[in-house]
Amino acid sequence: MTSRKKVAILYGGRSVEHGVSVNSARNIFEFIDKELFEPLPIGISESGQWFLTQGVSKDITQGKPLGLTLDAKNPGIIMLASGDRMKVDIFFPVLHGTDGEDGSIQGLVKAIDMPMVGTGVLGSAASMNKIIAKRLLKEAGVPVTKFLDYNFSQRNAISFETIVNKLGLPFMVKSASLGSSVGVSKVSSRDEFNQALDDSFRFDQEVIIEEFIQGREIECAIMGNNPPQASNPGEIIIRKDYAFYTFDAKYVDPDAVTIHVPAVLDKRIIQKVRKISVKAYQALRCEDFARVDLFLTSEGKVYVNEINSIPGFTNSSMFPMMWKEKGVTFTDLITKLIDFAFERHAAHKRIERGFQSNLNY
Ligand SMILES: Nc1ncnc2c1ncn2[C@@H]1O[C@H](COP(=O)(O)OP(=O)(O)O)[C@@H](O)[C@H]1O
Ligand SMILES: [Mg+2]
Repeated sequence: MTSRKKVAILYGGRSVEHGVSVNSARNIFEFIDKELFEPLPIGISESGQWFLTQGVSKDITQGKPLGLTLDAKNPGIIMLASGDRMKVDIFFPVLHGTDGEDGSIQGLVKAIDMPMVGTGVLGSAASMNKIIAKRLLKEAGVPVTKFLDYNFSQRNAISFETIVNKLGLPFMVKSASLGSSVGVSKVSSRDEFNQALDDSFRFDQEVIIEEFIQGREIECAIMGNNPPQASNPGEIIIRKDYAFYTFDAKYVDPDAVTIHVPAVLDKRIIQKVRKISVKAYQALRCEDFARVDLFLTSEGKVYVNEINSIPGFTNSSMFPMMWKEKGVTFTDLITKLIDFAFERHAAHKRIERGFQSNLNY
């Protein structure tokens, strides 16, 4: 074991998906190839402080407090108590949602010019915001649901009638930039409307309201860059008493869903899903990996619902399952993702930062 690369696994975070991230990171920490890599578990507390933890633990603040050195020539992590520098070769954010999946952490790592696994600032920010993502996907020719969007400042002017006229009933109300179905409601009557808006605005400045698509929930895993590869699609069948794929159905109730990997679909639909998913990944400038979530109607119409630039790695998560179906073990998957990131970082070195000019300053 000569030079194992030190992989800083960032987890937790200031997000409603804090707990989901801990569960994802626990699996990455367990399955990462220890012959090739030395994992350094770095927990981000709910108030945003960084700690080196003993394994991946929910008791993040029991760890050793850390800081980042913002010196791009000699970047790294500092142990705050001793002032000692901790060497890191690459960052692997296993963070979901706010501040972790939306480009914030990605910007921090980019500013110190360190390699980082996964989508960068642009793609993370674009994918995280469901309004911006849908506009870009539409422009790229990727089919998406009809939608309307509103800012909190417009809260009192949002009209139920206008929405029903444009999108029909039922419709979906969602926070623009969250995940794990937090701030998501299905609205089937006027009575449910105000509560749904309050729930979504509670977590976000913006909401997106979408036409309800009656369809199957299909997911496709993508990885790599030149060109990206698509897995076979998987399907999540949600028990009928859930109105949609809620937080509890995702993570709490083990009997809420049946997962089919691969999904039982016509060859033609499989190809269509894979092609649309790669197109969506490229349109949103995703890098290294992402999971594309789609709806498939009984007429064979496919819509992209959203792209998760850091999909879950929990025990019930589809992303690793879909690669396993293709013969890629969890351990090999992690190695591949880290390799993609190192390759990308090396390829970016050709880009010049300076520019000779006669500018006086
Ligand atoms: N337009 C829609 N039509 C039907 N169901 C939807 C629609 N949008 C979301 N849903 C349901 O809500 C769930 C969560 O919505 P999603 O946009 O994926 O948010 P999140 O980022 O929280 O996962 C979806 O998995 C699906 O079950
Ligand atoms: Mg989703």
